[in-house]
Amino acid sequence: MYLATLLLGPLTVAASLVPYDKYILAPKTRDLVPTSIHNVNGSVTNAISLTRPSGNATFHGVSSVTYDFGINVAGLVSLDVGSASSSAAFLGVTFSESSLWVNELASDATGDSGLDTPLWFPVGKGPGEYKPEEKHIRGGFRYLTIVSNTTAIVQVNGVRVNYTAAPDQDLRAYTGYFHSDDELINKIWYAGAYTNQICTIDPKQGNSLVHLMDDSSTDIELPETATWWNNYTITNGSSTITDGAKRDRLVWPGDMSIALESIAVSTGDLYSVRTALESLFVLQKADGRLPYAGKPFFDAASYTYHLHSLIGASYLYRFSGDKKWLTQHWSQYKRGVQWAISSVDSTGLANITAKSDWLRFGMGGHNVEANAILYYVLQDAQTLAGELRDTSSAAKWKRIAEKIKIAANKKLWDDENGLYTDNQTTTLHPQDGNAWAIKANLTDSAKRSTIVSNALKARWGKYGAPAPEAGKTVSPFISGFELQAHFLANKPNSALDLIRLQWGFMLNDPRMTQSTFIEGYSTDGSLHYAPYSNDPRVSHAHGWSTGPTYALTAYAAGIQLIGASGSTWSFTPQPGNLTFIDAGFTTSLGKFAAKFRTSGGKFVQLSFAAPSNTTGSVSLPGTKGTLVSKRGKRVVLSNGSATGLSGGTWELHV
Ligand SMILES: *[C@@H]1O[C@H](CO)[C@@H](O)[C@H](O)[C@H]1NC(C)=O
Ligand SMILES: *[C@@H]1O[C@H](CO)[C@@H](O)[C@H](O)[C@H]1NC(C)=O
Ligand SMILES: *[C@@H]1O[C@H](CO)[C@@H](O)[C@H](O)[C@H]1NC(C)=O
Ligand SMILES: *[C@@H]1O[C@H](CO)[C@@H](O)[C@H](O)[C@H]1NC(C)=O
Ligand SMILES: *[C@@H]1O[C@H](CO)[C@@H](O)[C@H](O)[C@H]1NC(C)=O
Ligand SMILES: *[C@@H]1O[C@H](CO)[C@@H](O)[C@H](O)[C@H]1NC(C)=O
Ligand SMILES: *[C@@H]1O[C@H](CO)[C@@H](O)[C@H](O)[C@H]1NC(C)=O
Ligand SMILES: *[C@@H]1O[C@H](CO)[C@@H](O)[C@H](O)[C@H]1NC(C)=O
Ligand SMILES: *[C@@H]1O[C@H](CO)[C@@H](O)[C@H](O)[C@H]1NC(C)=O
Ligand SMILES: *[C@@H]1O[C@H](CO)[C@@H](O)[C@H](O)[C@H]1NC(C)=O
Ligand SMILES: *[C@@H]1O[C@H](CO)[C@@H](O)[C@H](O)[C@H]1NC(C)=O
Ligand SMILES: *[C@@H]1O[C@H](CO)[C@@H](O)[C@H](O)[C@H]1NC(C)=O
Repeated sequence: MYLATLLLGPLTVAASLVPYDKYILAPKTRDLVPTSIHNVNGSVTNAISLTRPSGNATFHGVSSVTYDFGINVAGLVSLDVGSASSSAAFLGVTFSESSLWVNELASDATGDSGLDTPLWFPVGKGPGEYKPEEKHIRGGFRYLTIVSNTTAIVQVNGVRVNYTAAPDQDLRAYTGYFHSDDELINKIWYAGAYTNQICTIDPKQGNSLVHLMDDSSTDIELPETATWWNNYTITNGSSTITDGAKRDRLVWPGDMSIALESIAVSTGDLYSVRTALESLFVLQKADGRLPYAGKPFFDAASYTYHLHSLIGASYLYRFSGDKKWLTQHWSQYKRGVQWAISSVDSTGLANITAKSDWLRFGMGGHNVEANAILYYVLQDAQTLAGELRDTSSAAKWKRIAEKIKIAANKKLWDDENGLYTDNQTTTLHPQDGNAWAIKANLTDSAKRSTIVSNALKARWGKYGAPAPEAGKTVSPFISGFELQAHFLANKPNSALDLIRLQWGFMLNDPRMTQSTFIEGYSTDGSLHYAPYSNDPRVSHAHGWSTGPTYALTAYAAGIQLIGASGSTWSFTPQPGNLTFIDAGFTTSLGKFAAKFRTSGGKFVQLSFAAPSNTTGSVSLPGTKGTLVSKRGKRVVLSNGSATGLSGGTWELHV
């Protein structure tokens, strides 16, 4: 027997230090200059000097330089022009998230077709600073091209970007951290955290999708390009979480279902989540239906996205413990549940007619994803009703939920393939509904969860998990739910392998930004996302693609909040083949942390901490030993478990 601390070092970290901050991708300053040159075209002298705050590059006639910021960034560009040999001189600026769409005549796209127009500056007017109007903030770009389109000689002394994402955040002051013996996994955790930061915006800078509702826009050929701007106020407050950095820059409740949890365990920016959720709740219809997306998106009925808003409310309460907010929104929440259960028919299942979803097809009838999410919401709703002592609602929801579970397992289960079918009239086995069946505990047994987990894994391709319900698509959104499903089916190595395979590709492929996660791509590895015809439109920073960040903290490290803000918790690590994990995050109650080492699949050193006025349970299957608290309390593990533990710092003595 030995003290784990002797080998692991103290668990607590000085308050001023953010652990493992060398992995944090967010910039150290909001005043950015490029880090390197990607490409030069034509004659430009000393282009490299603009990678310093004060430089002196000379553009000789028609020429361009593409600069690389090293990571995906966001903000307002400004050019410091020294001189121009002609009053007709112009400089243009174009942007691209992916190296695929670097182009001196156009930016990558925010619209359904074509490319986005460059920003042009009449630098022949004389020396000085040139910058666009604030509505021309670009929400996501790794590459910035400066182009000179005349015969003039133009001297440029600086190119800077005023970084605008996550406006209320101290960008590197994370409240959560994660570290393991697997460097790829570590980098993915931090890229997920950063992706959500760049998707967090000043609400006045929303909606760059100006051509979304413009059916007249046909294919736009260069040099003709589409205008774009970001000037629609999408929520109240000073910061909000959107789906994507470049686009849509709108509040989407489905996307938030993944982003919210990953935000909670990394930056802890729940304020930006709350403003987003409130912008959805103000749009609730008289019949209880919540919107598909926030304003100014057109109103469409979406059964699943309606449910995702309810999930958002429950997650927000779980992480913030803000009972006042929950109470204020409870009658709206209940009307939302009522609208959802009004689709349940005599079979016990909901029949989906509000078909908009995450741009998959065939979301109708007794769809398994929709019913699994409904089942999940009904469990959540019972928990919340318990908090608010709304016992009559809880009893009603329990009865409906039980019937859904029985009916789904009877009518939608395909025993031969070990997967649920999408609905009763198809042989298609969707990724979304099968991942959600496990996540929601719609599966009728642990055995069935294992079968589904194995069957999903058996379908993986070279670039990740397929989502056949959306064509030849790899969906990082739905795969985020699949990760949780593998952990819940007690298959941690399947979850870790999918992170390495799919998010490893998304992080390291040279067409990606090496810092943020793309919204979707093709099963053949091309960066074509089936629902869109316009490949340059694909967002390379999408909050819905950040599932690993939460999954690693909550499941691999095993830190889960049960009661609001972690008033009750469970510590159930599933490290798979990771041999070391050190992770934690903070809620309003204090700090949750876990640190352990394994050898031969057994915990050899282990400690964890929870705020002092909380209680929780520990599950370490197969482990024998005694938990010893800093205050000297000793609890012998019983079949690997212990319950009713008070907060504080505990160590395993083996
Ligand atoms: C960036 O823009 C903000 C908002 O307009 C402004 O307050 C700030 O001073 C700017 N920072 C720099 C370095 O220009
Ligand atoms: C380089 O400049 C030439 C002439 O202006 C242009 O035709 C070509 O497309 C440019 N190439 C790149 C990669 O920008
Ligand atoms: C910039 O470089 C040019 C030569 O390329 C030189 O004539 C000019 O004086 C330089 N300006 C500054 C401010 O260094
Ligand atoms: C350069 O671009 C500006 C802005 O689009 C345009 O007004 C100007 O005519 C262009 N100059 C040349 C020589 O193409
Ligand atoms: C946004 O900018 C466009 C283009 O200048 C303008 O037409 C529109 O009215 C602006 N919208 C808002 C909400 O200010
Ligand atoms: C902003 O707050 C006002 C006042 O509470 C409210 O009427 C409005 O609906 C809110 N808008 C959004 C988008 O949240
Ligand atoms: C049932 O599922 C299939 C496969 O996803 C789909 O093509 C079909 O449209 C669905 N039925 C309904 C009523 O949505
Ligand atoms: C679902 O409801 C629609 C519209 O009422 C109906 O046409 C359809 O047959 C129903 N589907 C099932 C599977 O009951
Ligand atoms: C899942 O559902 C089963 C009943 O089907 C129940 O016994 C079990 O406790 C549930 N698991 C969780 C984690 O809620
Ligand atoms: C864990 O398994 C993966 C493959 O499944 C392998 O690449 C990795 O090296 C393993 N890590 C350790 C620490 O054994
Ligand atoms: C727990 O303790 C903290 C700090 O003393 C306090 O702010 C918080 O309200 C307490 N929470 C509960 C649930 O008692
Ligand atoms: C011990 O735990 C394992 C898995 O955690 C479980 O399957 C088994 O039923 C438990 N045994 C007892 C006696 O509780």
